[in-house]
Amino acid sequence: MRLRGIVSLFILVVSLILVWVFFVDKTYLWDLQENEKHRLQRKELPRSDCDPPVLFQSHPGCCPQKVCAVDHYPFFIRSGVANVVGPKICFNNSIIMGGIMNNIGQGLNIVVVKGETGEILKSNYFNAHTGELLEFLKSIQAGNIVCVASYEDPAEVLTDEIREIFIRLGSTMSRSVKRRDTWVFVGAEGIVKESPFEKLSANDEKSNVYGGWPEMREVGGCFPRKI
Ligand SMILES: *[C@@H]1O[C@H](CO)[C@@H](O)[C@H](O)[C@H]1NC(C)=O
Repeated sequence: MRLRGIVSLFILVVSLILVWVFFVDKTYLWDLQENEKHRLQRKELPRSDCDPPVLFQSHPGCCPQKVCAVDHYPFFIRSGVANVVGPKICFNNSIIMGGIMNNIGQGLNIVVVKGETGEILKSNYFNAHTGELLEFLKSIQAGNIVCVASYEDPAEVLTDEIREIFIRLGSTMSRSVKRRDTWVFVGAEGIVKESPFEKLSANDEKSNVYGGWPEMREVGGCFPRKI
């Protein structure tokens, strides 16, 4: 009787241990699998400047930006995609130029902002009239922030004189922009020397993503209000 009791107890304890180990093991494995799944999902997200964590919801249609310091403005710029999808320029989490605003066009899409206040001074697109673009750029004053997004072909209006103006605004690539390249840039008159907010993709048959056009480019972040 006594021996039977001990054996029964032993079997019960062993069973409990087995159940416990099995159960804990399972949940542990399951957690691992879930973590791995999440990790892979995170990895599969497209690499872009939208990747920083979303801390607040911005204007629908603007890329959500991380919170910027009080003396900076959040911005996000996306070039056009080939000659099919238009570009987008968001400033301070509002769409300033975009398909939804019906104010974009082929060539260079440009927004000028008053750096001190964030007020949008003007925006337009340029693809044929170099004189108009030159006039537009010459009215830019110290402290103005300039956002540029290409669509279809940025080079048509880029004369040497105009490329020089972009260099003065902090561009290091405007000199290299060629026909049907993709170019995004944010700079400012008198604010930065060389802007870190610039990307260029060369139109090259060997590497083009969209036949006659390279990949689209994005740039986003926080831009300082003033010097
Ligand atoms: C910029 O965004 C902030 C936060 O949404 C807002 O308070 C401010 O009025 C905006 N500035 C301009 C000039 O639109």
